[in-house]
Amino acid sequence: MSKPRILVTRRWPAAVEAVLAERFDVTLNGNDSPLGEYELRLALSTYDAVLPTVSDRLPVAVFEGAPVVTKILGNFGVGYNHIEISAARAKGIAVTNTPGVLTDCTADIAVLLLLSVARRGGEGERQLRGGEWTGWCPTHMIGTKVTGKTVGIIGFGRIGKAFAQRCHFGFGMDVVFFNRSTVDPAEAARYGARQLPAIEDVLAAADFVSLHCPGGAENRHLMNAARLSTMKPNAFLINTARGDVVDEMALIAALEAGTIRGAGLDVYEAEPDVPKALRRMENVMVLPHLGSATEETRTAMGMKVVDNVTAFFEGRDLPDRVA
Ligand code: DGY
Repeated sequence: MSKPRILVTRRWPAAVEAVLAERFDVTLNGNDSPLGEYELRLALSTYDAVLPTVSDRLPVAVFEGAPVVTKILGNFGVGYNHIEISAARAKGIAVTNTPGVLTDCTADIAVLLLLSVARRGGEGERQLRGGEWTGWCPTHMIGTKVTGKTVGIIGFGRIGKAFAQRCHFGFGMDVVFFNRSTVDPAEAARYGARQLPAIEDVLAAADFVSLHCPGGAENRHLMNAARLSTMKPNAFLINTARGDVVDEMALIAALEAGTIRGAGLDVYEAEPDVPKALRRMENVMVLPHLGSATEETRTAMGMKVVDNVTAFFEGRDLPDRVA
């Protein structure tokens, strides 16, 4: 029997590409260039499986126009708001993701952003590299202390919990969170955290607000102008979730007006475009979507996709099915 035909839309860790090549009739993306809408539509009418990433946009239009032969989208990533799930479902395409394996590394990046904005790490490095540091003095680049402050988490899933644990047990922070469903207080306490009833309660209490909820329609612009104005004027916003969770224009306005003190961002509304205003502000730390970017995690993500696609073509239940 011939092997299933599989398209990998970007370069993946070599170890994972090697396993895919052994098991499937695989087409790799040698030069790693992102695919456009036309190429993705063509892929859906050519390959048995397509393995996309967050850099591939799969709106309804990609699923229409040509007959679809793809039976599974094995997404390389836990977030899948770049895929129109209802359109995939309507075409009978299964969709899987890669939960669990990027929890620690994404929580680590949120901590990196929190510490960087509090202690002005990016600013300090820019000053030194620019040859502008004139030496130590008691009033130089004064930041804000982290220990003992309150961190507010929006979304208490795996990554929110891992971030809470780091903040509470690592930095002695008070941790409050909002989650749509009620979390058992004993479970929350394991992470040094306690649940508050409304997002606004968390925003009003927190010195640092960190977003850990999914992107997509349900949370689009959850942090809008009104909610930003509920934050303390000295508070910082951290976003390692998805760009569309924050109204970027409202965030820029809030930062310019001093409604909040700063922001640490790893994700953006129209990646890889990041508004110049954000790139210019000294009180904003901007990273290029590095949440899961470690050798161990990216390989583990790839192997999860391999497991899901292998299970699919062997007729087994999919470990990480989202549609
Ligand atoms: C994820 O897995 O969601 C990462 O942000 C990369 O897509």
